[in-house]
Amino acid sequence: MHVMTIQWNAEYSVGDDHIDDHHREIFHLISSLDEAVRSNDRDRIDEMIKYLENYTLSHFQEEEEFMESVKFADIEYHKREHDIFKLRIRDLRTFYTNQAPNTHLIFQIRKFVDRLIDHIMTVDSKIAGHEGKA
Ligand SMILES: [Fe+2]
Ligand SMILES: [Fe+2]
Repeated sequence: MHVMTIQWNAEYSVGDDHIDDHHREIFHLISSLDEAVRSNDRDRIDEMIKYLENYTLSHFQEEEEFMESVKFADIEYHKREHDIFKLRIRDLRTFYTNQAPNTHLIFQIRKFVDRLIDHIMTVDSKIAGHEGKA
């Protein structure tokens, strides 16, 4: 699946504006990533990893609280998906700390963001009771 041209749309709404805004930001991350690639700047890569670290902590927690508040049935499966993303972001940080080359880091960040977008479209969108298009 190529996510590059995919935009967030109402079909992916979870039924909460704040959470939907977070999801829009992730779709926009693709263009920030392209800029980071062009600049080839290690600090920009660090910033992106920091953003994703914060996102996986704060956004996931907020989304899990929202699922509890609407009594979403499939919450345990959804939480496990989040836990996998948390492990992946830790790996990304480890690659960075261990001086992995920029090209490798950018490739791994891109993969992470693609998976996150896929999660928004196929897993998050189920919270509101409608299926995302994969
Ligand atoms: Fe989400
Ligand atoms: Fe989620």
